[in-house]
Amino acid sequence: MSPTVTRMSPRERLDGVLPEIEIAALTPVLEEIEELKRSRNAVVLAHNYMTPDIYHGVSDMRGDSLALARLAKKTNAEVILMAGVHFMAETAKIVNECKTVLIPDMEAGCSLAEAITGADVRLLRERYPGVPVVTYVNTSAEVKAESDICCTSGNAVQVVESLDADRVIFLPDRFLGQWVASQTDIDIIVWEGSCMVHEQFSGEELHVYRDMHPGIQIIAHPECPPDVLEEADFVGSTSGMIQWVKTEQPRQVVMVTECSMSDNVAAEFPDTEFTQPCNLCPHMKRITLTGIRDSLRDMQHEVIVDPTVAERARASVERMLEVRA
Ligand code: 13P
Ligand code: SF4
Repeated sequence: MSPTVTRMSPRERLDGVLPEIEIAALTPVLEEIEELKRSRNAVVLAHNYMTPDIYHGVSDMRGDSLALARLAKKTNAEVILMAGVHFMAETAKIVNECKTVLIPDMEAGCSLAEAITGADVRLLRERYPGVPVVTYVNTSAEVKAESDICCTSGNAVQVVESLDADRVIFLPDRFLGQWVASQTDIDIIVWEGSCMVHEQFSGEELHVYRDMHPGIQIIAHPECPPDVLEEADFVGSTSGMIQWVKTEQPRQVVMVTECSMSDNVAAEFPDTEFTQPCNLCPHMKRITLTGIRDSLRDMQHEVIVDPTVAERARASVERMLEVRA
């Protein structure tokens, strides 16, 4: 499905996604959110890991981290509500300083964003003078401000290759960095961060799936460990994985990523059987329908980025947005 959602009523959008009894129970809060969006001139941007009630029910636009950064820059709405984690809301603010950016829960963080600070990046630059710093968007604004360019899982290889350098520092995800290194001749120096959700998968558990379900297709996010990626038939960002299912129409597939992805996508591809395993991201799951309603109603949890930090971080994000993926 395209990143921009057609304007049907939440009820129509959830038809076939959730059981009728659940839709009926959720309808009052769904209607409140629709009314608040109208009165606040707000849009809800939702990451692919949101639960189906949010992803299908109230999002106006949705996608992976790259799509959300692009959509945040493009929207005419005065208020952006980020149904995602804090770094995504910060990125929306960085590319759109004059808009109000809200997040329903300030504690919706990310293990990768916590893995590195601006001071760490300055030390890396001292250790590797002249080596460009490529920073995954799953980082704080402060870290982006210390970087040369950002990337997402959807464009990491293209970003690294856009720099005309023999060697780059890649942070903070070591598995994504190692995967990029396997796709390019450029020498990659990685930081030791990892995603607490994707690092839990193992190649061994995937062997079991292959043995149990001959012909099953395995598609994985590049934040997974190398033994998982070696086992995968396709590696890509969350939106890349959705696009792959759309194009390939597999009979049976395992999406090696956060749980809600399969739930969201299964509703759109009824002919494909989605098999677990999956792991939940506790940060993403802090975002709820009632939290979205409260946030829009009370205009609460506004994301603010220090303007001098934002200006430097913006340069890194904008440079990334100019790279064709
Ligand atoms: P993408 O949606 O950009 O692939 O990122 C996955 C992720 O873990 C975001 O938190
Ligand atoms: Fe961070 Fe991993 Fe959760 Fe994404 S899934 S927000 S990378 S902890």
